[in-house]
Amino acid sequence: MRQVDTIAELRRQLGVWRLDGARIALVPTMGNLHDGHLRLVDVGRTRADRVVVSVFVNPLQFGPGEDYDRYPRTLDRDRARLTERGADLLFAPAVAEIYPRTLAESTYVEVPGITETLCGASRPGHFRGVATVVTKLFNLVQPDVAVFGEKDYQQLQVIRRLTADLNFPIEIVGVPIVREPDGLAMSSRNGYLTPAERARAPALYRALCEARDAIAAGESDFAALCRRQRERLRQAGFRPDYFEIRRADLAEAAPGDRPLVILAAAWLGRTRLIDNLQVP
Ligand code: PAF
Repeated sequence: MRQVDTIAELRRQLGVWRLDGARIALVPTMGNLHDGHLRLVDVGRTRADRVVVSVFVNPLQFGPGEDYDRYPRTLDRDRARLTERGADLLFAPAVAEIYPRTLAESTYVEVPGITETLCGASRPGHFRGVATVVTKLFNLVQPDVAVFGEKDYQQLQVIRRLTADLNFPIEIVGVPIVREPDGLAMSSRNGYLTPAERARAPALYRALCEARDAIAAGESDFAALCRRQRERLRQAGFRPDYFEIRRADLAEAAPGDRPLVILAAAWLGRTRLIDNLQVP
């Protein structure tokens, strides 16, 4: 697998592959790759001839006081894992390559509405940063298909919306969450957890499963159910940010609506975990 760090090298390599008529998949990441990311590479390989993985910790999607500085950067290990998994190209640009102007002076992409609730409400500006960098990566790579994890369910909806609104001819593929044996969704941020927090962390997934089971058993008071599950999380040592039941398109859900998605974000010490469960 080749690594390129500049836009010029990236375009040169992609140009060669396109002359061969290759279909190209893009897997955007912020690195510190775990098995969930590698599953995205596998899916990319089934959908295209060449898989490009970007590793870029995007400063624009971190708010003041968030974990941009301490976000784990493990490029050598990531490169080894991608090589082993059969990725074709690693694009690992520096911040100045992607944002040559100061962040305040840079053009950005705003997706209204859908970005204003859930994680968007707790992390103002986060989805603007995600939408901007994903748009830039789409323009740089011009992939046929782009692959994202469903753990960031709201992010995936934001990306689907911007792809449609900006007429990118790109197929967006969502890949189910990969979990640890005890149910915890894989995340680069799991590494922040202390051993005691790590032992408690699967309670987030359990709270989602209980809500799913309650809906299956006929629970129709979603507000009361979410209140109960927030309390369960508090008892398990979390500081819940939100626990909500929405329609699959993230609109407010009424009892008869299906499919649904149950979404949660909660703090465990200094670590903010997110997870979700789809109810078909
Ligand atoms: O999901 C992520 O890792 C990031 O939000 C993404 C999509 C790579 C954009 O920086």
